[in-house]
Amino acid sequence: MKSILKYINDYQNKYNKSPSFMIRTYGCQMNERDSESISWILSKEGFVETNNMEDADIVIFNTCAVRQNAENKLIGNLGDLKHTMEAKNLEKIIMVCGCVMEIDSSRQFLEDKFKHVDIIFGTNSIAILEDLLEEHLSTKKQVVNIDSINLKTRETIGQNRKYNFKSYVNIMYGCDNFCTYCIVPYTRGREVSRDAKDIIAEVKHLVNSGVKEVTLLGQNVNSYGKTLDPQISFAELIYKIADIDGLERIRFMTSHPKDISKELIYAFDEIDKLMPFLHIPVQSGSDRILKLMNRKYTREDYLEKIDMIKSLKRDIALSTDIIVGFPDESDTDFDDTIDLIKRVGYDQAFTFIYSTRPGTLAAKMKNQVPDDIKNARLQRLIEVQNDISLEKNKKYLGKTLNVLVEGTSSKDDNFYSGRSEEFKLVNFKANEEDIGNIVKVKINDVKSFSLNGEKVEDR
Ligand code: 5AD
Ligand code: SF4
Repeated sequence: MKSILKYINDYQNKYNKSPSFMIRTYGCQMNERDSESISWILSKEGFVETNNMEDADIVIFNTCAVRQNAENKLIGNLGDLKHTMEAKNLEKIIMVCGCVMEIDSSRQFLEDKFKHVDIIFGTNSIAILEDLLEEHLSTKKQVVNIDSINLKTRETIGQNRKYNFKSYVNIMYGCDNFCTYCIVPYTRGREVSRDAKDIIAEVKHLVNSGVKEVTLLGQNVNSYGKTLDPQISFAELIYKIADIDGLERIRFMTSHPKDISKELIYAFDEIDKLMPFLHIPVQSGSDRILKLMNRKYTREDYLEKIDMIKSLKRDIALSTDIIVGFPDESDTDFDDTIDLIKRVGYDQAFTFIYSTRPGTLAAKMKNQVPDDIKNARLQRLIEVQNDISLEKNKKYLGKTLNVLVEGTSSKDDNFYSGRSEEFKLVNFKANEEDIGNIVKVKINDVKSFSLNGEKVEDR
């Protein structure tokens, strides 16, 4: 690794400190987890992480392709950075990676128009980042790598965790579902599960280093294990993970309703460590639109699963994703969605305006919905859901919740915030020493998106 070593030595001799890097992450939890791997690789080489883009010697943009506006943000940020570098005469190594780089036209645009980007790599090339940096430093040329790397190579990469008390754990990569609006199967490739023993070893290692909560990650965790021999179900994996001493909380993201098994639903009643929260993206309440989306379940199938979850002994908080303005969505289809969210009574919903993704089947569908209608539907959906969320939260008034304290609140430094078992964001007065602990908080005020309360002593 001659060139990287030389770069670091020269830098240290000149500035009397190590060179730094900053990662800007867009999009989902998979990207956040990937950024932790990138951080680990660069730290191992001798770079130190910073939050300040202007100071950073390496700037990495880990991109998201799921909607056009995330792509637009990247282009804006790259332009701004170029401007700052020119105005202040700064030298930096710029890297762009993640899902957008897996789309040929978007990557080509970057290669042509943003010659100041030094290294471009795809979602499956993180393991060879060291080689890419070496190549760039020795040739001074733009380096591009979108090659797929096999799972075994990926197993060798470590993680620089953002929190020391909780962590994401990948259990599978990719997606085979090809929902017609979605770019993910094209950017993250075919579905492949990690070996259960590798996952369990990773969780044990995390717990030994202080982690209390893990979130198991995959585009569709419910189909975990199908590519393994012998096959193992997602519920079976959760039972094994729950046996790990010292682990206190298990969560998972994200689920496809068609693959949620009874076994998994019953696991909520049987495993105390499995947190009572389920993200179950419905996308639409209209059978016609669900079919056009290739979701492979009907509204009735979905509601049946919801009823099963509601019949459990434990109360499970529910969350969902909804897209408005999918091609050919009529007022009646949209009304069906409004009706469904009222019937289910979600604790929270992530609501999106349909965004055309080149290369997907929906992009070619006729009757694309005009922007003003999409916007009006989104507003109405948000209003209805906010009322539902507020109503749902009211039942916590006066109750005492177990909250894993994450840090100071984003709005007020005197307040700390954390997540209850139901994944509610809870704000309360606490101390620095509480961070990373599970404390009891009595709720005295509720909003649509958060609960406020007071820390109470354990009794
Ligand atoms: N337009 C809008 N929203 C989308 N999602 C995925 N693709 C699109 C798109 N083309 C949403 C889905 C998914 C969430 C992660 O992003 O609701 O569940
Ligand atoms: Fe996209 Fe559908 Fe796969 Fe989710 S299940 S990542 S929405 S294709």
